[in-house]
Amino acid sequence: MMETLAEPFRLIALDQTDSTNDELRRQAGKGAGHGTVVWAGRQSAGRGRRGRQWVSVEGNLHCSFLLDPGPSLADAPQLSFVAAVAVREALAGLVPSASFQAKWPNDVLCQGRKMVGMLMELAEPWIILGIGVNIAVAPEPGLYPTACLRQLGSGAAPFDVLAALAEHLGTWYGRWRQEGFAPVREAWLAGAAGVGGPVTVRLADETALDGTFTGLDAQGALLLGLPDGTVRRILAGDVFFPGAR
Ligand code: BTN
Repeated sequence: MMETLAEPFRLIALDQTDSTNDELRRQAGKGAGHGTVVWAGRQSAGRGRRGRQWVSVEGNLHCSFLLDPGPSLADAPQLSFVAAVAVREALAGLVPSASFQAKWPNDVLCQGRKMVGMLMELAEPWIILGIGVNIAVAPEPGLYPTACLRQLGSGAAPFDVLAALAEHLGTWYGRWRQEGFAPVREAWLAGAAGVGGPVTVRLADETALDGTFTGLDAQGALLLGLPDGTVRRILAGDVFFPGAR
């Protein structure tokens, strides 16, 4: 059977590649455009945020979407929230009995354990959105505890998850282009972990800041209430909730 995805997505399916983000960048260099998707059964050099390795095993989903960031590249970071909302909805549709939460900036958790990671990169004029979903295997915990769909009793295959993801991503991408960030932000906050509670944010220079996760600003920055009463905008960092470190 030909594997096809919802509009506007066109699939390139591979048994193996180095990283689906890298393969999609090569495809973009050869003229691929908005809506091209690379899906690989295995990755030999899967990458996570901040140069970390992403353990990529057969049975999990490794895919990357080529997206048009729209008229302002400055708004492109909002796409990671578009993706998180879409992934959360897709997983909720596949396993209605489970509760999934978005985790700033763009992970998806189940019962506090990381099930999905996303890596957004620029390949001008496009954005590459790489998504890894633990389906059959929950890799050894690295920075965070991990979980996989199989542990929830789901028999979904990688293509089932990819197809659901493409459907929801298409819908939310269209909404974002038409209505802007406000509905995305609202949907993200409605299903987010830890809002209003204590959080530790580790910055790129390894500084750790303890405070309260007071919300998300209009650009998608995490708002961190500090003990001295000030609020700091966090644009990048690793987030830890108490008890989950
Ligand atoms: C993270 O949580 O650190 C981000 C993980 C992103 C992993 C996905 S798997 C598909 C795509 N290809 C990669 O090399 N990385 C992303």
